[in-house]
Amino acid sequence: MSAQQKSLLLLEKQGSFAVQNTDIPKPGPGELLVEIHATALNPVDWKIQVYGYFIQDFPAVLGTDAAGVVKELGEGVTSFAIGDKVLHQGYFTNRSATFQQYTIVPAEIVAKIPPNVTFDQASTIPLTLATASCGLYNTKPNGGAGFSAPWEEGGFGKYAGQPILVIGGSSSVGQHVIQVAKLSGFSPIITTASAHNEAYLKSLGATHVLDRNAIPLSSLSSAVKEIIQEPIKLVYDAISDADTQNTSYAILAPGGKIVLVLPVAIDESKRTEDKEIVNVFGNVHVPAQRAVGVSLYKNLTTLLEAGDIKPNNVEVVPNGLAGIPAALEKLRAGVSASKLVARPLETS
Ligand SMILES: NC(=O)c1ccc[n+]([C@@H]2O[C@H](COP(=O)([O-])OP(=O)(O)OC[C@H]3O[C@@H](n4cnc5c(N)ncnc54)[C@H](OP(=O)(O)O)[C@@H]3O)[C@@H](O)[C@H]2O)c1
Repeated sequence: MSAQQKSLLLLEKQGSFAVQNTDIPKPGPGELLVEIHATALNPVDWKIQVYGYFIQDFPAVLGTDAAGVVKELGEGVTSFAIGDKVLHQGYFTNRSATFQQYTIVPAEIVAKIPPNVTFDQASTIPLTLATASCGLYNTKPNGGAGFSAPWEEGGFGKYAGQPILVIGGSSSVGQHVIQVAKLSGFSPIITTASAHNEAYLKSLGATHVLDRNAIPLSSLSSAVKEIIQEPIKLVYDAISDADTQNTSYAILAPGGKIVLVLPVAIDESKRTEDKEIVNVFGNVHVPAQRAVGVSLYKNLTTLLEAGDIKPNNVEVVPNGLAGIPAALEKLRAGVSASKLVARPLETS
């Protein structure tokens, strides 16, 4: 194997991208070197480039979703073998980011890909499933709503009969919230999306899909009440702009919890002590989210094999890593129930 690889580098803060040769990193104890066959694009990637978030050291490799093949085992790794097909979440450092051909990851947050899932499909899962799972199943001190995960003992179906409202069910995050909510037993699972995504979201587990283009946010509360009169004690706002946050906070019943994927924008004058706001950070590399990640990745292969967790719809980006900058612009302009996926090994 060559000592060098191709990486897509963000050359400076809010600067431009370029494909360049970089050294292939070495796995440390407990880590794997993975050859990346597919990496998915996420809004955070264009936000880092446009707004200058998170990363201070440049040139920087971005990307936090990978599917590929294990190429090297770090000391002490026994749960994987060279040649295993795996998926995992990346991190915001050059050795562990995924817009490159090789990356490093701790083995405890990696899962094998079952035969019914392709590399492209597998790459759509890690970041957004982590965001759904950390938001719902992490403990409160660690930034979660504190529910029991369905893959842990006693967790499957535990919340049967409790309603959940998912704002933005067709977003990548929303699709995974619907799927894990179904495994947890939440019902009904009411979501908002464009009407053309209704059948797809019902196939993932949504019970009711409210057409966001036909029902303005000002009418969402009454539309939800037509479905269920019981108080809604759990909202996952997978969009979290100021309008969706304020609308869903108003729908949330006292004693309930709302999970947000972006910083809180709920009017301070409307906030009350009896409604809990959870701000999720969906990355299983960091200590506060690691336990959820380890538990999830232990069970992920089985969940994928059974079809309990399904991948997003894939749209492959042309030209490998070189195609990512244009694809990030496309993502910023808006996608609908789909994930843009690049294949780093196809970089010319
Ligand atoms: N905190 C974290 O750790 C974390 C992690 C991941 C993502 N995020 C953030 O979460 C947000 C979603 O990310 P993503 O990757 O899931 O997005 P995405 O897949 O790119 O979102 C596209 C979808 O959003 C839906 N949508 C847009 N505006 C909507 C609205 N007002 N109401 C309902 N649906 C709406 C569209 O639905 P239709 O096409 O059906 O109309 C479309 O399917 C982003 O802001 C991202 O930065 C945060």
